[in-house]
Amino acid sequence: MNVLVSIALPDDLISKIKSEHSVTVHHGNQPMDPEELRSLLRGKHGILCTITDKIDRELLNNTDRLMVVANYGVGYDNIDLEACTEKGVLVTNTPDVLTDATADLAMALILAVARRVVEGDLMVRENRFQAWTPFGFLGSEVSGKTLGIVGLGRIGKAVARRAHGFSMKVLYYNRNRLAPEHEQDLGVQYVDFMDLLQESDFVSIHVPLTRQTRHMIGTKELAAMKSGAYLINTSRGPVVDEGALVNALRNGHIAGAALDVYEREPLVHPELLKMKNTVLLPHLGSATSETRRKMAQRAIENLLAALRNERPRDCLNWEQLNKATP
Ligand code: DGY
Repeated sequence: MNVLVSIALPDDLISKIKSEHSVTVHHGNQPMDPEELRSLLRGKHGILCTITDKIDRELLNNTDRLMVVANYGVGYDNIDLEACTEKGVLVTNTPDVLTDATADLAMALILAVARRVVEGDLMVRENRFQAWTPFGFLGSEVSGKTLGIVGLGRIGKAVARRAHGFSMKVLYYNRNRLAPEHEQDLGVQYVDFMDLLQESDFVSIHVPLTRQTRHMIGTKELAAMKSGAYLINTSRGPVVDEGALVNALRNGHIAGAALDVYEREPLVHPELLKMKNTVLLPHLGSATSETRRKMAQRAIENLLAALRNERPRDCLNWEQLNKATP
């Protein structure tokens, strides 16, 4: 069968696909232009795509043989799952393998924004470090503070486990509450969303982007946050209303924000770039060599299984397509 791979993957991994199928690889560091994607997808039975490839209804209407979309990433808001299901196309993602890397980065952002790590680094590089002073460059303590986790899925749970290493109290809000014994094991306390915002010194977001979570953090929610608290986002940019965030930072209600993702990625709100109390990363959550390789392996396993008519390990619409479970 014919497969399109929209990113340059290591040769040994591409060879795995080539051992069973004919492969077209899009080389280059930039996401594929939508026109090119549309033309390359014609005649293909499968695509291994990334979170920057928009797989929407219009694109799907232009495909003729597509059987599977294997996403290189756990978040799949780039894919119209409903349209894929209607077209009979399987969709897969790469959960689990990036949980630790992303949770590590959330902790790194908490520490960086609270302890002014990036600002301090810049000060040294710019030769502005003149002497240690007792009250210079003060940040906020992390140990012993309250962390509010919005979305207690795999990554949210991994952040909770890490936060205990810093003796933090961990609150969470999730669509579904955990069973009491699981809450106890994980050392987390369930609270309403608004209570979480009011009580947390750090609010860390770990929800997927859906119609319900778009702008889940807006003017009202930012105003409800504890004065002097910090906002951390390693999930998806549009969960936070960036304009509202700029206002909350500008009026000093919240002390800082550490973001790995943006509302109009890769564009960043110009005001956020000017602020000293923001830490801004270029969507690095899963960016370790180990994790990115595991993500590629997992996406390939999913793709190959689907093309063999087997159930892929991480299929998002198997039941909806009424496939018989082997
Ligand atoms: C994902 O997988 O959804 C991340 O955002 C990129 O690794």
